[in-house]
Amino acid sequence: MSVQSNKARPSVWNEKYSQPGYVYGTEPCQWLRMNQHRLPTEGRALAIADGEGRNGVFLAQQGLQVTSVDLSEVGLAKAQALASTRGVQLQTVIADLRDYEIAPGSLAVAIAIYAHLPSDLRPLVHRRIAEGLKPGGLFVLEAFHPNQLKYTSGGPRSVDLLYRVDEVLADFSDCHIVEALEGQTALTEGHGHLGLGYVTRLIIQKGALA
Ligand SMILES: C[S@@+](CC[C@H](N)C(=O)[O-])C[C@H]1O[C@@H](n2cnc3c(N)ncnc32)[C@H](O)[C@@H]1O
Repeated sequence: MSVQSNKARPSVWNEKYSQPGYVYGTEPCQWLRMNQHRLPTEGRALAIADGEGRNGVFLAQQGLQVTSVDLSEVGLAKAQALASTRGVQLQTVIADLRDYEIAPGSLAVAIAIYAHLPSDLRPLVHRRIAEGLKPGGLFVLEAFHPNQLKYTSGGPRSVDLLYRVDEVLADFSDCHIVEALEGQTALTEGHGHLGLGYVTRLIIQKGALA
């Protein structure tokens, strides 16, 4: 009898990141770059599931003090190499997000770019992020939507790992919605995300009194 586990497996990602080059490139996600003008230039930032670090490094380049968390030590070693090339500091933490606690009220920014957490874990991590943000703190998310199953530009093939806007918003019901979008976009992110895709994009702000 085989037993299915929702526990993430670092070996899968370590193997993927062991290829030469950067799977999703070294430039930040387009949605994060488009919202650069909203980002603070100081304070603490958390990049969950940051992989090879393209987005965490971009935040560090804005002046933020960034912690990148991922379960792949191979990915995070490449994130450190990218930070060093760009002349910025990055704190990397090898951890499963299931076990990763966030100090309440500590973050100016949190990002989840293509984190694709399973539905049993996602609300817990999002709750920790909502509590971890300072008043006025920003959360930026991009992930593939279930409609991505009709496209071949990348992403998980399991609907449980795909994100709808309304599901994510339910995890941040006490925060202010700045942008909440679902739709088709052209992706050019390394060889990992290439071609037309269908994504969920969010910018959420913790209310000043939350
Ligand atoms: C599609 S990649 C995205 C990487 C990066 N955010 C980017 O956009 O370039 C998904 C990442 O999530 C990480 N991940 C998946 N489940 C995780 C978990 N439970 N805890 C920590 N990291 C996880 C994987 O190791 C992988 O690096």
